[in-house]
Amino acid sequence: MSRARITIDRDFTIGEVPRRLFGSFVEHMGRCVYTGIFEPGHPEADEHGTRRDVLELVRELGPTVVRYPGGNFVSGYNWEDGVGPVEDRPRRIDGAWHTIETNAFGLHEFVRWAREADVEIMEAVNLGTRGVDAARELVEYANHPGGTRLSDLRRQHGSAEPFDIKLWCLGNELDGPWQIGHKTAAEYGRLAQEAAKAMRYVDPTIELVAVGSSNRQMPTFGSWEHTVLTHAYDEVDYISLHAYYQEDDGDAASFLAEAVDMDAFIEGVVSTVDAVKAAGKHTKDVQLSFDEWNVWYQRGLDTEDQPHNVQKTWREHPRLIEDTYNVTDAVVVGTFLNSLLRHGDRVRIANQAQLVNIIAPIRSEEGGPAWRQSIFWPFARMSALAKGRILRTAVDSDRYPTRKFGDADLVDVSATWDEESGRVALFLANRGLEESAEVTVELRGLTAGRVTRAEVLTVPEGGDRRTANTEQAQDAVGLAPLEGVGTQDGVLHATLPPLAWAVIELEVSRG
Ligand code: AHR
Repeated sequence: MSRARITIDRDFTIGEVPRRLFGSFVEHMGRCVYTGIFEPGHPEADEHGTRRDVLELVRELGPTVVRYPGGNFVSGYNWEDGVGPVEDRPRRIDGAWHTIETNAFGLHEFVRWAREADVEIMEAVNLGTRGVDAARELVEYANHPGGTRLSDLRRQHGSAEPFDIKLWCLGNELDGPWQIGHKTAAEYGRLAQEAAKAMRYVDPTIELVAVGSSNRQMPTFGSWEHTVLTHAYDEVDYISLHAYYQEDDGDAASFLAEAVDMDAFIEGVVSTVDAVKAAGKHTKDVQLSFDEWNVWYQRGLDTEDQPHNVQKTWREHPRLIEDTYNVTDAVVVGTFLNSLLRHGDRVRIANQAQLVNIIAPIRSEEGGPAWRQSIFWPFARMSALAKGRILRTAVDSDRYPTRKFGDADLVDVSATWDEESGRVALFLANRGLEESAEVTVELRGLTAGRVTRAEVLTVPEGGDRRTANTEQAQDAVGLAPLEGVGTQDGVLHATLPPLAWAVIELEVSRG
């Protein structure tokens, strides 16, 4: 049995929970849109082609904001192809994913879906093959009330009211050589600056995200952010981060500690952003948008025997990177959400990539069912319960050795306090593969009351750490009651089983 002593204090807060931390991502890639959220003719589809079974799961998952339409896809996309009468829309080649894009689904369809799902839209513009003009025209089409060519075109296409999209990404991963329209930092920095200016001339209320590094291992990481912001600091509100993680060669110990890498990535970008702020004598802060993150098993993606490979035939909605997630992945995802929450003073937006089928918490089959993957649960609970203020957590945990990160804490945690509902929520992970963890949480400035929720996701009976939900066994991995949670003299006690993610919510009063 390992031990962890956690202390939280009412007065030691990180800030308000940025609700946009619980974002997701819908890309025109593989089966995320087509046969994911949209499948006309499916028994569960409504008259617009929206899959109601998937929509119900999305509502239960609770994303607050959804990035769209890409991803690598957006760097070759003409937004005009996706508006107007469906029968007039062109079939196109999508070079990013070697796919035929029918354009049966576009901006209007996404706006309708987003309203039904009750999510904010985060719209990306194409700064790969296109530039300032297409970007500002899209803002005009989407947000201008009427009386101009493009806003009237939107009205003619059935939307009298503007879409009022506030959040915009200035392209996608343009630091990456794989990206259509890949640029140097200086080229992109200038383009982002000018696109931002022109988009704001159309709608001064929008918020803009500049492209940061595609991952922390990029050779340009650090210098990219520095150069881009040296050009565009005044014009943008956020800089993006992307990161995907996987278990290497059965090294579960390191994989379970990958949030250490996420912490370092975030803190590195904060340092660079603040260095540019200081050198440029800027007064505002540029915040962070971690707008793609997840577990993604990328190893072997380019071999012929990979079912999720990009096949070199032109097809509509091919089956791409449909990773199946297990118990270990869910625990790791819980620690990523902890990392994001602990940095909620600077990370204001985060999008798990993606929402359905493509490396996603929700899976669906064409003409078939939809179900929750293991990673669904930490996200759903944290989105529902992380409210109010983020509390600093002082953690004194037993540690374990990892190949990649040296010694790491066995227990990982984040905490929030919602004064309005009078509840504290604790999100905990036990990274120990063999040992249970005895956890105590001392509450300072808060008097503990009733425990209102205690749930755990762990290895199910008869399973192992690789057990996953599948079409045939859709509920193999899920939440179960965490027994034995209680408070004594203002201290909460809980025992986490080996390899577990848990949520504990309790009533508190000031004092
Ligand atoms: O989410 C899958 C892909 O990963 C996105 O299209 C791209 O931005 C990233 O490299």
